Amino acid sequence: MEKKYNRTLITAALPYANGGVHIGHLAGVYVPADIYARYLRLRGQEVLFVCGSDEHGVPITIRARKEGCTPQDVVDRYHAMIKSSFEGFGISFDIYSRTTSETHREVASDFFRRLYEKGEFVEKESEQYYDEEAGTFLADRYITGECPHCHAEGAYGDQCEKCGTALSPTELINPKSAVSGSKPVLRKTKHWYLPLDRHQQWLEPWITQEHKEWRPNVMGQCKSWFDMGLQPRAVSRDLDWGIPVPVEGAEGKVLYVWFDAPIGYISNTKELLPDTWEKWWKQDDTRLVHFIGKDNIVFHCIVFPAMLKAEGSYILPDNVPANEFLNLEDDKISTSRNWAIWLHEYLEDFPGKQDVLRYVLTANAPETKDNNFTWKDFQARNNNELVAVYGNFVNRALVLTHKYYDGQVPACGELTDYDRTVIGEFKGVKAEVERLIEAFRFRDAQKEAMNLARIGNKYLADSEPWKVVKTDPDRVRTVLYVALQLVANLSVAFEPFLPFSSERLRGMLNMERPDWNRLGATDLLYEGHRLGKAELLFEKIEDTAVEAQLTRLAEIRKANEAAAYKARPVRADIAFEDFEKLDIRVGTVLECERVPKADKLLRFLIADGLENRTIVSGIARHYKPEELVGRQICFIANLPPRKLRGIESQGMILSAENFDGGLSVITPDREVKPGSEVK
Ligand code: MF3
Ligand code: ZN
Repeated sequence: MEKKYNRTLITAALPYANGGVHIGHLAGVYVPADIYARYLRLRGQEVLFVCGSDEHGVPITIRARKEGCTPQDVVDRYHAMIKSSFEGFGISFDIYSRTTSETHREVASDFFRRLYEKGEFVEKESEQYYDEEAGTFLADRYITGECPHCHAEGAYGDQCEKCGTALSPTELINPKSAVSGSKPVLRKTKHWYLPLDRHQQWLEPWITQEHKEWRPNVMGQCKSWFDMGLQPRAVSRDLDWGIPVPVEGAEGKVLYVWFDAPIGYISNTKELLPDTWEKWWKQDDTRLVHFIGKDNIVFHCIVFPAMLKAEGSYILPDNVPANEFLNLEDDKISTSRNWAIWLHEYLEDFPGKQDVLRYVLTANAPETKDNNFTWKDFQARNNNELVAVYGNFVNRALVLTHKYYDGQVPACGELTDYDRTVIGEFKGVKAEVERLIEAFRFRDAQKEAMNLARIGNKYLADSEPWKVVKTDPDRVRTVLYVALQLVANLSVAFEPFLPFSSERLRGMLNMERPDWNRLGATDLLYEGHRLGKAELLFEKIEDTAVEAQLTRLAEIRKANEAAAYKARPVRADIAFEDFEKLDIRVGTVLECERVPKADKLLRFLIADGLENRTIVSGIARHYKPEELVGRQICFIANLPPRKLRGIESQGMILSAENFDGGLSVITPDREVKPGSEVK
């Protein structure tokens, strides 16, 4: 059953204000949400696009403790930074507020109180760790101890990061409070639970039957939650950072961050529109769409809808187009390992190139599966698509018009069959882009928009106005007229995707605000219209810029590997006599060369104080032969000879293996006579 909607409320996940935003966030949530919002606005629909910072939760308190400041300091700092990153990328929120706002505290408290009064919660007592020295209950993350599975030290109360097992704090061996270091004790505490088990009855058919159109990844996660059977979820915590639980007997308790955060969508709407916010949340001709990453699916498809339904007066989401994850250079993006491209850094390194990143992230959007960002691909897409196709077409059309017609749109002469075919092709683009955007397939939609530029580029290349101008000036008028219409269409078609470039392009065309409904028309620019100044729409990205980024990542990777390194446990003891059997000696390298057709092997001739010997060693990937000639090395002298690639090797050269697999040969600290024994 198709519903009739009169307006669309778009939400984008509220980012945690305890770090910056990176390309994974942008690709997964904010760029697609922005494309959608811009598109609907262009079509003249009533749209509201709401977001803000998520400023509660335990990780923020941990960061504050680490940095020796208050949680409010932490969120103030990151809220400002996140907000300006989003502005930098043209994410067109109607409001970007925060969950520490006064409005939010009120709205979230009222929401809780209403559910409480309606009897929508279950109260339960449980035992939780309490730090007697610090006088506080401990969040799971604040308790560390030995992992019951892999016995690593320093596992957290919710998870062991060594073996990845999910834990509950009481499973930890020798638990320790991260606040005071003391041994925590179990204490009774009371919490309020949202009985999701009771909601499964309506949630399951609502999603699996009434919303079959939801993305398969979203549907899959929901079904697996249903199959496991929904469980009651606690919506309060013993913590001193958050919104106080607004009922009696709840001293020292706050709303669980995942309870208050989604209510932030509502409070931010109310902050922006204090008088009319309810029509966006309570009228069923409003279509609610949540843009999120895949780690947020359960909260937006199950928990928040259950909260809204329990409250009773709210609409439910019509769609939740969650994305999978974006990797960076084949590795999972990680804040703690600093494996990310931070938006504020990108804006500094590539000023004015916001659209390039928007373009590349949409082209690689992780819509159906995890996807990968690489700097090489970034450069290739910029140089081969934005510059060579889109930018090149625009530039040729404009420069030729300035050259031949003094920057005025020429009169269109008679159209050839070829012109008609081209016009027909680009007329089709509008419906296709619309269909794809409305199905949340932004990456294919952008490809279609790019297709318009390809059509134009080919049209000019085929028509060769720069040649024809000498023989048939009338033909050139027509070709440029058609090409300019295509250029004007491009500025409209790309407006949702590349808003900065569209705006610049409109400047060059001296064109008004675009109207999506006229996309595909061949009279966007009239005969005699005077164009603005032609500039380059995109510029080439040089190797050096990409190499600088790759070097930075390589340094981060190296530092991470070094930090993660731990020596292997020592092997079982051996008898001293066994050690004495080994005959280790020093030799001087007389010759060293590669073994043909074996990319790992080097052949050595070693002076050993006797008759010299040949040794073949697998270190060709770590040394150039000439580096080793004349050096002293250590080798095992009494191993039986072995044939390697037809060469008899009389011993084994000793080297140390670094944590990253690199080999370093062992040499004596001072020069000794060849054949000296190592003891
Ligand atoms: N802060 C959460 C995250 O980054 C998202 C919160 S979305 C909201 O994963 F709905 F709770 F607001
Ligand atoms: Zn473990």
